[in-house]
Amino acid sequence: MRRCFVCGNWKMNKTASEAATLLRDLRGAVSMVRDRVEIAVAPPFTAIERTAKALEGSNIAVAAQNCHAEASGAFTGEISADMLKDLGVSYVILGHSERRQLFGETDDGVNKKVHAVLKAGMLPIVCVGETLAEREGGKTLDVVSAQVRGCLKGFSAADGARFVLAYEPVWAIGTGKTATSRQAQEVHSHIRGLLGELWGGESAGQVRIQYGGSVKADNAAELLAQADIDGALVGGASLKVADFSAIVKAKG
Ligand code: PGA
Repeated sequence: MRRCFVCGNWKMNKTASEAATLLRDLRGAVSMVRDRVEIAVAPPFTAIERTAKALEGSNIAVAAQNCHAEASGAFTGEISADMLKDLGVSYVILGHSERRQLFGETDDGVNKKVHAVLKAGMLPIVCVGETLAEREGGKTLDVVSAQVRGCLKGFSAADGARFVLAYEPVWAIGTGKTATSRQAQEVHSHIRGLLGELWGGESAGQVRIQYGGSVKADNAAELLAQADIDGALVGGASLKVADFSAIVKAKG
């Protein structure tokens, strides 16, 4: 069985001090959610250390929003996977559509980062998803397939259990427009089928695939009830304790 995994992506929000306040309330709000749902938050780099301290002994893991593919060196302004691991980070979000669109990230670059994250002993959350033009052009499944193949290059069935993927249709991110549960399930099931082709059914069955894109307290239960939706990557709603904890508790 794949354990439901809900991760909050704070994007460029919250100072370290603001994070500490939010996390104190969040800890309390989700403390009773034990084995059923795995929970993580991805603060900006500057709040990671405070976040890790604030969450010590809790049921909430720490994630990061990006990292560099190289282990160290002359890369001004960048952060390596080992640096994140050292702060207590367990997951790294890679290939988010904002990084692809605003910072020129490619599948090839994401693939290199996935290798770095796994090598450092953390788990990647690899984001894929189509734009509105691609969906309207009937290209959704082709676009998503190419992204999955590109980002997972060089891995084998043995790595399956270490992967989290996130299907995030670009047109649904931060727009208030959510994919219907049917649209999301169609893509999730397609991704799992592709993983089966690449790695075999047993390994494909272990990969958790989150849905992301305007997940809210009132649509989470229906999305999380779909057969191939194994969790959520939550942006805006993860900044409010009441909304995020309601999403965490939405899995029936
Ligand atoms: P949103 O963002 O929930 O604000 O749409 C999701 C994401 O970007 O991961």
